[in-house]
Amino acid sequence: MTAPPRRLLTLVVPLMLLVSISMSAARGGGFLAEADDGEAVYFRECAGCHGNEGQGDSAGPSLKALLDSEEAVVGVSQLVREGYGNMDAFGNDLPEAQIEAVADYVVSQFGISGDVSDGEVLYGLNCADCHGAAGQGGAASSLIGVPSPMVVSAIRSGPFSMPAYGQSTLSDSQVAAIAAYVEETLAPSPQPVQVDMLELSLRTVHVLAVVIYLGGGILLHGPLRRALRLIPPGQAAIVGTHVGQGFTYLSWLSLALWGSTGYWMLFRLGWGDPSSPFTLFISPERLGNPHGVSMLVMLSVWYLIVVNASIITFLLRPRLARRVTADADTEAANRVVETISDSARWVDILALTNLLLTVVGLASGALFL
Ligand code: HEC
Ligand code: HEC
Repeated sequence: MTAPPRRLLTLVVPLMLLVSISMSAARGGGFLAEADDGEAVYFRECAGCHGNEGQGDSAGPSLKALLDSEEAVVGVSQLVREGYGNMDAFGNDLPEAQIEAVADYVVSQFGISGDVSDGEVLYGLNCADCHGAAGQGGAASSLIGVPSPMVVSAIRSGPFSMPAYGQSTLSDSQVAAIAAYVEETLAPSPQPVQVDMLELSLRTVHVLAVVIYLGGGILLHGPLRRALRLIPPGQAAIVGTHVGQGFTYLSWLSLALWGSTGYWMLFRLGWGDPSSPFTLFISPERLGNPHGVSMLVMLSVWYLIVVNASIITFLLRPRLARRVTADADTEAANRVVETISDSARWVDILALTNLLLTVVGLASGALFL
C-alpha cells in the first residue's frame, strides 16, 4: 500500500504534539514542579537561617521588609545567585529556575504589598529586632537621639554585624522615612516621667566636674596670676603656694568625679570591655561609630590629664616648695632658684596642656548631648 504519506502525517504530528504536551504537563505537575516550587526550595535552602515565616533568626536577618515588587524579585534572585554580605551564593548549587522560584516565593510571601512609606512601619519591620521597638536598644545600641544623616549612612553601610540595606531592600525614600522617624519620633522624650534620674545626675555631675576643673585652671592661670603680681613677691609666693595647694585638691577632686561618673555612664551603656584594656575599656566594635570614637577621645583626654596632673602634683610642686636655706652658698642657692623657675615653667606648660585637653574632651562629649 502506497498510502499517501500526507494523511499519515496529519495523523501522526498532532498525536506527537499531544503526547509531548501531556508529557510536559505530567512533568510540570510532578517531579520538576516540586523542584521549581519556590516554597519547597525555601524550606529546603533558606528557612534554616531566615525562619519558616521569614522572620529571621540569629543566622539570618528577617525577610519581611522586602517590598512586594518586580524589582525586589530581581534583587533577591540576584543576591541568592551571587551571595550577599555574609550569605553564601547559591548560583552553583541551584538551577536558575529554582532561584527565580524561591525569589518569587520570598517576595510574594513575606514582602509588603504596596509602597510602604511609613517610617514607623518600616522601622518595626527592619530595625526593631536589634535596636528595640522604641529605639531603646537591645542587641544593638539605642537609637534615641541619633540624627537622621547618621541613620541613613548606617542603613546603607551596615556597621559591624548590622546588615547593610541596599536599594533592592529599602529605597532612598524609605530610608529617608526611617531616618525621619528615628530622629523625630525616637527623639529623647521631653516627658519628665521618662527621664532617667540616675543618668541625669551622672551627666550633670560629670559635666560639672569638668567645668570646675576647667574653671579652676583658667582662674589660676589668668586673673589670679595677674593679681599675685600686684602684691609683694614674698607674700605672693606664700599666697601662690596656698592657692596652688587649694587648686591641687580641687582639681584632683574634680578629676576623680569626672572619671568615675564617666566610667559609670560607660558601663551603663554596656560599652565597657575590661578584657581589652588597650582600647581603654571600650569594646573595639564600638569604635566604628562616631559615639564610640568620641568616647575614646574623652577617655584618652582624661588619662592624659591624670598623667600630667600627677607629674605636677608629685614631681613639680614639691620642687616649687624648695627654699634657699640660710647656710647655702651662692652656687647652691642658684641651683635651688633655677630648679624652682624650671619647675614653675613646666607646671605652666602641663597645666595649659591640661586645659586644652579639657576643652577637647568637652567638645567631644558634646556629641552625646
Ligand atoms: C547560612 C545561613 C543563610 C542561608 C541558608 C540563607 N541566607 Fe539569606 N542571608 C543570610 C545572612 C547572614 C544575610 C545577611 C547578609 C549580610 O547582611 O551580610 C542574608 C541576607 C539575605 C537577604 C537580604 C535581606 C535584607 O534585608 O537585606 C535575602 C533576601 C536573603 N538572604 C534571602 C535568602 C534566600 C532566598 C535563601 C535561600 C535560597 C537564603 N537567603 C539562604 C543567611 C542565610
Ligand atoms: C541584626 C541587627 C541589626 C539590625 C536589624 C539593624 N541594626 Fe543598626 N546596628 C546594629 C549594630 C550591631 C550596630 C553597631 C554597634 C552598635 O551601635 O550597637 C548598629 C548601628 C546602628 C547605628 C549607629 C548607631 C550609633 O550610635 O552610631 C544606627 C544609626 C543604626 N544602627 C540604625 C539602624 C536602622 C535605622 C535599622 C533599620 C533599618 C537598623 N539599624 C537595623 C545592628 C542592627
